[in-house]
Amino acid sequence: MPSTSTMTAVVNADIAGPQISRHLYGHFAEHLGRCIYDGFYVGEDSPIPNVGGIRTDVVEALRQIAIPNLRWPGGCFADEYHWRDGIGPKESRPSMVNTHWGNVVENNHFGTHEFMALCELLDTEPYIVGNVGSGTVQEMADWVEYLTRSGEAPMSQLRRQNGRDEPWKVRFWGIGNETWGCGGNMRAEYYADLARQYATYCRNHDGNELYRIAVGARNDDFDWTQKLMQSISCLGCEQKRRSPYQALAFHYYTSPSERRRKWSATEFSEEEYYLTMASAWRMDEIIAGHSRVMDCYDPQRQIGLVCDEWGTWWRSEEGTNPRFLYQQNTLRDALVASLHFDIFHQHADRMVMANIAQTVNVLQAMLLTDGPQLVLTPTYHVFEMNRGHQDASQLPLHLKQAPARKEVGDGEISTLSASASVKDGVMLLSATNLDTTDDARLQLEIRGADWQVGAARILTAAKVQSHNTTEDLSAVSPQPFSDVRRDGVNLAVDLPPHSFVTVEVQLG
Ligand code: AHR
Repeated sequence: MPSTSTMTAVVNADIAGPQISRHLYGHFAEHLGRCIYDGFYVGEDSPIPNVGGIRTDVVEALRQIAIPNLRWPGGCFADEYHWRDGIGPKESRPSMVNTHWGNVVENNHFGTHEFMALCELLDTEPYIVGNVGSGTVQEMADWVEYLTRSGEAPMSQLRRQNGRDEPWKVRFWGIGNETWGCGGNMRAEYYADLARQYATYCRNHDGNELYRIAVGARNDDFDWTQKLMQSISCLGCEQKRRSPYQALAFHYYTSPSERRRKWSATEFSEEEYYLTMASAWRMDEIIAGHSRVMDCYDPQRQIGLVCDEWGTWWRSEEGTNPRFLYQQNTLRDALVASLHFDIFHQHADRMVMANIAQTVNVLQAMLLTDGPQLVLTPTYHVFEMNRGHQDASQLPLHLKQAPARKEVGDGEISTLSASASVKDGVMLLSATNLDTTDDARLQLEIRGADWQVGAARILTAAKVQSHNTTEDLSAVSPQPFSDVRRDGVNLAVDLPPHSFVTVEVQLG
């Protein structure tokens, strides 16, 4: 017999917490499988509607979720990529072998100018990852100059020859990718010095201020974080050293155990579902662990924490190239995403950016393409429903009664999660019930302002395995939600099993 788990909490609508950076809703596009080619880029001669080769339907869909930044060109690909191969007339661009991702030939038709055009169409900030693993300091410094310098400098002239007069604005700059693994298999001590060196020569040209992001840890490798922090900041010193980079980016994928590549994206048991959620919850302790280490060296929180790869990682879909990492996306993936956002919001004081992997046709995608057809995944809808949190002020939820916990594997998880923020006089509440059979009730006492319940929506489906396809585009799509009401001083929300709900509350 289904029961109801209850969480009661208090929110002070007039005591705002830190700002939730919109960059926590960032994205990632790698030259991997069908993410760039087929996904974002089909070429100018394609019958699929495009602007300069970039798919119109993809741009329109992503503009609806206001993506704040797009990371490119990788991933592991970034440390094999030589940017000069991707500029100039397409017919004279050299090819290369994409050894990480299927040994396919990359023709470099999508390069710097195409990426910057994509960012302009999306109205998003570029986040470019430079090559440390197989590149040079000079090559990276030249790329920065090519993109951001005006006047008569050699790289500015080269850019002009390729048809772009004015420099672009580029803020986010990655100093390599996974240098502990595919980006060079380096030890932390070695990379700590390289990061300082590369970051030094990534100059600010003509008022373009770079925000340099060094490679952070894999998962919970707090030792990596400690070694990098030690190299840029001085524990206990009064005078701070000046850091050549501004943030550290760790990676964490939701993948219950190393068996992730064996698990199906769509056919999974209840046990696998809950193990997935336990793995997703780990993001909270991983961020907390890195933050604790960083606090020792940087108590003023001047160095940002970034997670520039997160999301689910399942077995590639049958019949596709296993190295293309193409997977379907179910309601389970959407609930993983909504849970991550609650966690990111909670850590808004240290977390400055997060990038889901990846935006189109790879891993936990927002969009799947099949020829001219486009599918919006359940995860896409979470980004859309949570749009209001971008750049809002976090409102901490003070727990009076924690929700019930459920035993999963060797531990236990909470099956109810929520977070809130305020922007322009509207509080946005997001709540997720992970339980597959039980309802959940959230009783939220709102203090510090008059308030009225506004629009509410729900994302759920018959099963956690439900997903959208070209035959059924809206099996999992947001619907208006009515099980939300005022109950005295409380906002009461009754969430059905496996659901994600957002409620707008007008503050008076
Ligand atoms: O997102 C797929 C890959 O996962 C990236 O290229 C790499 O950085 C990570 O291991």
